[in-house]
Amino acid sequence: MFSIEEQQHLLQLTKKLLEKSEWQANSETVSNLRTVIKFHDWCYYVLSEQKITDFDYDFLFSKLKELEKFNPTLVTEDSPTQRVARGLTENFETVTHLTSMLSLENSYNEADLLEFDRRVKDLVGEAQIQYCVEPKFDGASIALVYENNRLVRAATRGDGTVGEDITNNAKALASIPLTANFSSFGISKIEIRGEVIIKRDVFEKMNEQRAVLGEKTFQNPRNTASGSLRLKNPEEVRNRRLEAILYHVSFAEDSNGNNLALSTLKSHYHCIEILMNCGFVTPLHELKLCNSVQEILNFLHIWNEKRNHFNIDTDGMVLKVNSLAQQNKCGSTSHHPRWAMAYKFAAKRAESKLLKVEFQVGRTGAITPVAKIEPVPLAGVTISSISLHNEDFIKEKDIRLCDTVIVERAGEVIPYIVGSVKKLRTGKEIFIEFPKNCPSCNTPLVKPEEEAVWRCDNADCPAQTEERTIHFASKDAMDIEGLGRSIVIDFIERKFIQNIENIYSLPYQEILDLEGWGKKSVENLQAGIETSKNQPLWRLINALGIRLVGVSTSKDLASHLNNIFELSEKNTEWLTNIEGIGPKVAQSIVDFFSNKSNVELLHHLKAIGVNTENRVEDALSKNNKLEGKTFLFTGSLQKFTRDRAKQLVEENGGKLLSSVSANLNFLVVGKDAGSKLTKAQKIDSIQIIDEDSFLKMVE
Ligand code: IVH
Repeated sequence: MFSIEEQQHLLQLTKKLLEKSEWQANSETVSNLRTVIKFHDWCYYVLSEQKITDFDYDFLFSKLKELEKFNPTLVTEDSPTQRVARGLTENFETVTHLTSMLSLENSYNEADLLEFDRRVKDLVGEAQIQYCVEPKFDGASIALVYENNRLVRAATRGDGTVGEDITNNAKALASIPLTANFSSFGISKIEIRGEVIIKRDVFEKMNEQRAVLGEKTFQNPRNTASGSLRLKNPEEVRNRRLEAILYHVSFAEDSNGNNLALSTLKSHYHCIEILMNCGFVTPLHELKLCNSVQEILNFLHIWNEKRNHFNIDTDGMVLKVNSLAQQNKCGSTSHHPRWAMAYKFAAKRAESKLLKVEFQVGRTGAITPVAKIEPVPLAGVTISSISLHNEDFIKEKDIRLCDTVIVERAGEVIPYIVGSVKKLRTGKEIFIEFPKNCPSCNTPLVKPEEEAVWRCDNADCPAQTEERTIHFASKDAMDIEGLGRSIVIDFIERKFIQNIENIYSLPYQEILDLEGWGKKSVENLQAGIETSKNQPLWRLINALGIRLVGVSTSKDLASHLNNIFELSEKNTEWLTNIEGIGPKVAQSIVDFFSNKSNVELLHHLKAIGVNTENRVEDALSKNNKLEGKTFLFTGSLQKFTRDRAKQLVEENGGKLLSSVSANLNFLVVGKDAGSKLTKAQKIDSIQIIDEDSFLKMVE
């Protein structure tokens, strides 16, 4: 939507605005602020590139708000500040869609696709059809109407004919442009369809934070997106970090009321390009034009794997006849278009029996009920243990001991229990009792009224100490090789470890005498522990296990400090000035250091020789993202040369192989891949990925 020159100009303008010391509420300043904010929304959502920090963005946004407040005549309808309507939406009016929101027919295998292709060819009367194949996003569908370039309405699908008017909420989504330049394509009224989703990483982070704050966690991104669109408060909608992906133009006319579907708009691909040019997030980078069922099958195969790493949940792919003229010839039934078909990936659900529930104490004292189920294979792994989140989750789902439960696993996301099968109950099922006391130290559990999580607030609780020590040594923290969960638990039982600093004074002679330990393994453990003394500062910060502080916050904090002791003296005001650190995180850090024993721990660690400083060389250190992984590239590469690919693998600690074998972890597939791809498809353990996925791995 923004040309390279415009982007450069807007980056300059951003810089100027950020350096500005005096602000006047005149139309030029306000208009500049608006343009710059819209530009950065576009960069973030459409380009997926954040060009300014959240801190600078928030600054510009608050300036605009302030100037508009000072001079209300300068407020325009499409100002980014109007995304969050001030009032609360009481309830939703119903609205009739310009064209019915049909659903899609489902297919599950090659035979279904061949049948679909044959039917389309019959209807169109041509021997060759071009299809556009794209992901089927698993979110909540929406329809947006723009008139004279302005967003005038957003609606949920509803019953397909009538939906709920959620315009105010849609305006809270920065990825939905309030104005879009459709007129440059001769369009004066348009209805477009898409999906509102929450990215997986955003969802997981949101849930982690909710869990730590004792709030109820959400079940999955789809339900959360759908529920969030119906929230009464647009401000809250904004906080949910929903995004909209637009994949279909269902209606378009010019200023004389002429339908443009067959004149200006040529193909589905063309429509997607127009949407992209108008500033929408589209599936343009994920789709492929295919000229045969074989090509479609190859692409589906790639996505069946790719979707595991894709940051958005998908439940299949959608095949669409690309030409709009041909779509028109196919027509629709009252339920679905005959020119499109959903291809559903194999279901990743299974049934199992709930055997018992264990109550685990986390490192911050939160009690999590964990279901132990009869082991069941699901999407390549055997599942025997699943979190039940909290007491309310168990009550809401009415899950009982001995119930048959449905387990679901979407991609790489942790499995979860969808519910129990009530009709299979025999009457012998037992209600799950939540404990009143800590299962580890027997301290009475507490639960503040507004929180969903029960906690043990005994800082010396053995289970918490155990979890804190496991966390301290773990991969994302001090990364101590050889000191995994089971060894920490064993050492705690043997009283080798009673607190974190004991890690650095283990009785190696005694360990050598233990069963299962030899000279080599003890030396390796000792080496792992010694090496960890030299870890960068952010790892030590993360290792402390401060509530709400994870890897990225630890990195942010470390980059603002000379050493760990500075952190122990900072107040909430200083902390909240760091971008990405909000008042809750800041308070949690201050609370952590107000406990003297935590500060003492740091002095002990320093005395032992653990690095507590922010060193320059850490910022320059090499990456090991692909360590232990093997790669092979096949087909003609479009995004990088073979030499560059080799360099990227090696620079990141990976290894290149020259042929397909069970030792291969990743086959990166370019255009027109041949026998290597066919061979790799037969070996389950090989992950087949495309060039973009590879680039993401080394990003
Ligand atoms: S096209 C008339 N494309 O799947 C055709 N739908 O089960 C309009 N969906 O209601 C739909 N991703 O909510 C289309 N790339 C995609 C999609 C997609 C997800 C949803 C959509 C639809 C449902 C049908």
